[in-house]
Amino acid sequence: MLTGKRILLILSGGIAAFKCHDLIRRLRERGASVRCVLTPAAARFVTPLSLQALSEDKVYSDLFSLTDESEMGHINLSREADLLVVAPASANILARMAQGLADDLATTVLLATDKAVLVAPAMNVRMWLHPATRANVATLRSRGVAFVGPNEGAMACNEFGPGRMSEPLEIVAAIEAYFTGRLPAAEPPPLISGPSVIRMPPEPMGGAIAHRPLMSRRAIVTSGPTREAIDPVRYISNHSSGKQGHAIAGALAALGAEVTLVTGPVGVADPAGVKVVRVESADDMLAACRAALPADIVVCAAAVADWKVRNAANGKLKKVPGAAPPALELVPNPDILASLAASGPQRPALVVGFAAETENVVANAVAKRERKGCDWIVANDVSPATGTFGGDRNTVHLVTASGVEAWPTLAKDAVAEELARRVVRHFGTSGVVAAS
Ligand code: PMT
Repeated sequence: MLTGKRILLILSGGIAAFKCHDLIRRLRERGASVRCVLTPAAARFVTPLSLQALSEDKVYSDLFSLTDESEMGHINLSREADLLVVAPASANILARMAQGLADDLATTVLLATDKAVLVAPAMNVRMWLHPATRANVATLRSRGVAFVGPNEGAMACNEFGPGRMSEPLEIVAAIEAYFTGRLPAAEPPPLISGPSVIRMPPEPMGGAIAHRPLMSRRAIVTSGPTREAIDPVRYISNHSSGKQGHAIAGALAALGAEVTLVTGPVGVADPAGVKVVRVESADDMLAACRAALPADIVVCAAAVADWKVRNAANGKLKKVPGAAPPALELVPNPDILASLAASGPQRPALVVGFAAETENVVANAVAKRERKGCDWIVANDVSPATGTFGGDRNTVHLVTASGVEAWPTLAKDAVAEELARRVVRHFGTSGVVAAS
């Protein structure tokens, strides 16, 4: 859909600039070419070298570079683009755009362009909500500038609210919508009513009310492998490290949920602020999950053994010289996810499973969501080459009743934070307690 389209990507300063690496990759794999312009502040967050490598084009930043002016004047930068995308757009660049300033290459190009401009704001929630920024956004909208985001969520500055830059795939979708004429009139998301800025202290503060969007929500998260005994010293298990499940428990707790983490044997540290229940087998895990009900949210990230040994031996199985090795008879384990997702008075409002697949990842995950009766499935490819089991990164698809969403490869912590953000969005912000 973007084949042959030329995107001029203008990066201003902000931590979200790191997401532009993935944005460039996503645009290029869809056939678009990307040329980058950096503000001086952006160059403090990402390097021209990395952008140049990903875009396979020169990166522009200096308004007064004689070489650039002779080879590619600022007018040409805009002339040779089909769409200008400002991402991340800081409060500062929005203000300069609204004022019509041209004090660096980025704003000069923006002032000189006759092309459409799409803006992906990224800033602290208070800056986004400040009347000056509101006025600048309104001015830009009235001039036809389109907006994507910002999203609401946990921010690098330890606050929660609108201000996070849209995810690369959301920006790509907005760009595609522009080229197919579906980009709606430039409407930034409405400001949330009530307490729109929510502080997120890393730990609950003694005596203070913690203002977190998942406060009053109870969550159960399963993590790690299970061990199915063969005899008292041997077991069947898998390579799950617990990194993904533990990160999810921590992310939900950071947003205020009361989390019970039911974990198989793992080496990773307990996440802060969660109740940890340690189990060995799938039977134990199911019992611990049931004991933790009622809950609003369940996330089953554990790699539960599908089978256990019928009649595991009470004593250590002996090697008898000349005798055949013992035959293990396997029987199915209970399905914890399906059991928690089954309808009934205690069914959590949101049941999320994982799908660990080595082939046909999305198709199998879609079928698994239906079969197990859960609301969402997070599908991940666990082929050995991916390093998903035990590794620090994960490439997932979020499968819901509304469709399948591909997420970029992220650190497991980032997958967890994004999933927690989706949970917040699912429940809305109505449960937020007013700031004191
Ligand atoms: O722990 P890490 O090293 O960080 O790796 C993370 C992970 C790869 C383990 C995790 O991201 C993941 O994919 N977890 C699910 C692993 C799995 O068992 O997938 P599955 O496709 O076999 O099962 C589907 C779902 O049913 C899962 O939510 C699983 O928890 C659940 N299940 C499976 C069997 C069973 N008897 N009971 C269950 O509840």
